[in-house]
Amino acid sequence: MMLAFGNPVYDSIKTPWVWTRDRVLSGCATNAGLAFAKLGGDACVVGRVGTDRLDHYHKALKCYRIGHHTETCRETGGFKLDYDHQGRRELDVLGQAEPISQIPDSISRAGIVFIGPVLQETPFELIREVRSRTDAVMVLDPQGLLRRIGPGGRIEHYKPDGIEDICASFDVVKPNELETEILTGVDPRQDLERAADILVGWGIPTVVITLAELGALIVTEGRHYRIDAWPTLAADSTGAGDTFAGGLMYARSRGMDWRAAGTMATAVASMMIEQCGPEFELTLQEVQRRAARVAVTERRAASAAVA
Ligand SMILES: Nc1ncnc2c1ncn2[C@@H]1O[C@H](COP(=O)(O)OP(=O)(O)OP(=O)(O)O)[C@@H](O)[C@H]1O
Ligand SMILES: [Mg+2]
Repeated sequence: MMLAFGNPVYDSIKTPWVWTRDRVLSGCATNAGLAFAKLGGDACVVGRVGTDRLDHYHKALKCYRIGHHTETCRETGGFKLDYDHQGRRELDVLGQAEPISQIPDSISRAGIVFIGPVLQETPFELIREVRSRTDAVMVLDPQGLLRRIGPGGRIEHYKPDGIEDICASFDVVKPNELETEILTGVDPRQDLERAADILVGWGIPTVVITLAELGALIVTEGRHYRIDAWPTLAADSTGAGDTFAGGLMYARSRGMDWRAAGTMATAVASMMIEQCGPEFELTLQEVQRRAARVAVTERRAASAAVA
């Protein structure tokens, strides 16, 4: 079972191709759980939601066969996302749910634990407590650890004190390019190897940097896998990284090696971004068709930090 911590959000999304009328269910843990479950895995999400959306949230999870451990709170989280033609986005806060305060007993059955906060709802103490209660493979999407609310309710990014040690307590850390730059000070589009080396140097066993239409880099066990993206029109790329994580975790839970897991993750993400919201089509057959055609460049890691 994959247990994913992170609050759901109900987002309002505007891209050059999509403009949502109603707020749509999203969130890092939710999207990862969706991908994992749609592929046939056993997923359970842990998060908080306001009573206004509780009914909808429960029905959606039931429909997608995702287990949940939900605490209610005053307000449901959400963002207004506005994308430009380059895929860059601004996030304005529409609501913020409170931090998760309970770790379900089912953590004892989890083979993988995913921490995927959207906005500070998995404090470092909670992460340390989770780590102390499981030997499961722990995977971090750091996005919500690096965000805070700035002037006018706009999301700004920062590097919190102690983030290096928190990252090192995970087996896998998966930042996108912006998060990689916040964490390392290096723009991975300029120097991908150096950015990865810095994260590896913190003691993270597997570093996965996603680069939107440029694909991803996985550094693990002394090897580099540079994985291409599946060329497609990203009608709405919200959740690309989350579903990439869901696909990667599913593949690893099925015993695939990193190279195969990376191509599967890329294929899964490409299928999600062709549509908007949680109702994207995800069949194993199409995922495998795309994954088999994704190019991968593999080499031994040069960095001393990896040795
Ligand atoms: N325009 C695109 N074309 C093809 N594949 C894409 C595109 N954008 C994203 N992807 C796929 O999704 C993966 C993750 O994308 P990205 O780096 O944008 O994640 P992200 O910024 O964390 O997304 P989010 O936080 O919204 O979930 C990429 O590694 C790639 O495989
Ligand atoms: Mg992300």
